[in-house]
Amino acid sequence: MSIHIAAKEGDIAEVILLPGDPLRAKFVAENFLENPVQYSSVRNILGFTGIYKGKKVSVQGTGMGIPSISIYVNELFREYGVKRAIRIGTAGSIHKDVKIRDLVLAMSACTDSGANNIRFGGRNYAPTAAFSLLKTAWDIAVSKGWQPKAGPVVSSDMFYTEDPNEWKIWAKFGCLALEMECAELYTLAAKYNREALGIMTISDSLITGECTSAEERQNTFTRMMEVALETAIAN
Ligand code: HPA
Repeated sequence: MSIHIAAKEGDIAEVILLPGDPLRAKFVAENFLENPVQYSSVRNILGFTGIYKGKKVSVQGTGMGIPSISIYVNELFREYGVKRAIRIGTAGSIHKDVKIRDLVLAMSACTDSGANNIRFGGRNYAPTAAFSLLKTAWDIAVSKGWQPKAGPVVSSDMFYTEDPNEWKIWAKFGCLALEMECAELYTLAAKYNREALGIMTISDSLITGECTSAEERQNTFTRMMEVALETAIAN
């Protein structure tokens, strides 16, 4: 096992879905995977491996924010040989054309994070999705009639910012939504030469102040899970 994941070699599939919420990992395992086996519950960050359409797929929580996802993705890439990692999560819209319940594919992830500041010594790295996964997810979503939006997102270190208007500078430069993890996932995928993509459902809008209801979240999240699973098993 690694420090934060209680799995043996071979317990985790080469392709993995990464929700922030461990209970959403359990939901995916119970509702989409055949014969799911829980491989870890360290700190209640649940991880499962099962079969989706004949292929081995894992799903595990990452917690919220860059420091948390960094720990899990480092261990998944370095110690468990994960080759393809797809984040599934929520995001807040900061773009007038990105509405509540929309699916957003993160082409790139701007960030105010201290992590890349430390890593790159003040230089500005551009965390970017794997084009092949982006294209596959786009095609799958379109084929199901769930037209996604694709563009840059912002992986912010703080949910509760001191300045409530901070998001507007990102909006001015064309970013679609705020979330808290993609920049680190993409940076680590580049470092370890793996594939990564972030697929987000818009749960709230900083422009209109709207929020999704629990029921709406359930339905729209299911769409995101399906796109992510189909993308995970694609060639
Ligand atoms: N900020 C950051 N992360 C989020 C948000 C937000 O407004 N909404 C959903 N995830």
